[in-house]
Amino acid sequence: MLLGLILVFCFMTGDMAMADLKEKISTKAAVFEAKDYSYLFDKLEGITENQLKQHNDLYEKYVAKYNEVNGKLTNADVLSANQNYSEYRSLKVELAHNLNGAVLHELYFENLTPDYKEPPQELIEAIEQDFASWNDYLEDLRATGMASRAGWAVTGYNYRDGKIYNFIIDQHNIHVPAFTRPILVMDTWEHAFMIDYGTDKKAYIKAFLANTDWNVMLERLKVTLETDALLEKSTD
Ligand SMILES: [Fe+2]
Repeated sequence: MLLGLILVFCFMTGDMAMADLKEKISTKAAVFEAKDYSYLFDKLEGITENQLKQHNDLYEKYVAKYNEVNGKLTNADVLSANQNYSEYRSLKVELAHNLNGAVLHELYFENLTPDYKEPPQELIEAIEQDFASWNDYLEDLRATGMASRAGWAVTGYNYRDGKIYNFIIDQHNIHVPAFTRPILVMDTWEHAFMIDYGTDKKAYIKAFLANTDWNVMLERLKVTLETDALLEKSTD
């Protein structure tokens, strides 16, 4: 009798503990809505409407899958989480894949423009603090794009040392540097250029750079530097 009561108590408290745990870790992230990039579709030089429309369709699927995975995480079994295999691990992996898939595409589309302008002097001067010249920066960015697999070439500001780097992300979530904020994002998945350029990634990179919005990059850098100043202030 006593043993039975203890078992019932453990069972109930176990359930309560699990409910408490779920309540504590439930993801409260807002549901993403895909943004509208149709203003770019037939307006870019060397990147066609068909290419951009199909690319945009892929982006919308990342947003939908992010929402789906995030929703499933709220009810996933946290107590069976396991590093070798578990539903919880799978959902966490796919959350990173689809979250970055959505965010990186947004940064990419938003640093393209149908109204190309030469890079502002303020941006060139900022880049030349960390690269020998603007052309050296571009050469490194092009090489980073060529070296990336199905993934991304990203210019980012590293909060650790206050420097700007070009780095590779393979897929959406492999080799992502910590504490680094992207200020320019170039998609190097073949789906970004296969329709227009086949496997000629070099030609696509040239087209990307002919449509890059350098003012967006400068604005992102300014916001990043403001955030960096706040971080420094908070650690004084
Ligand atoms: Fe893409």
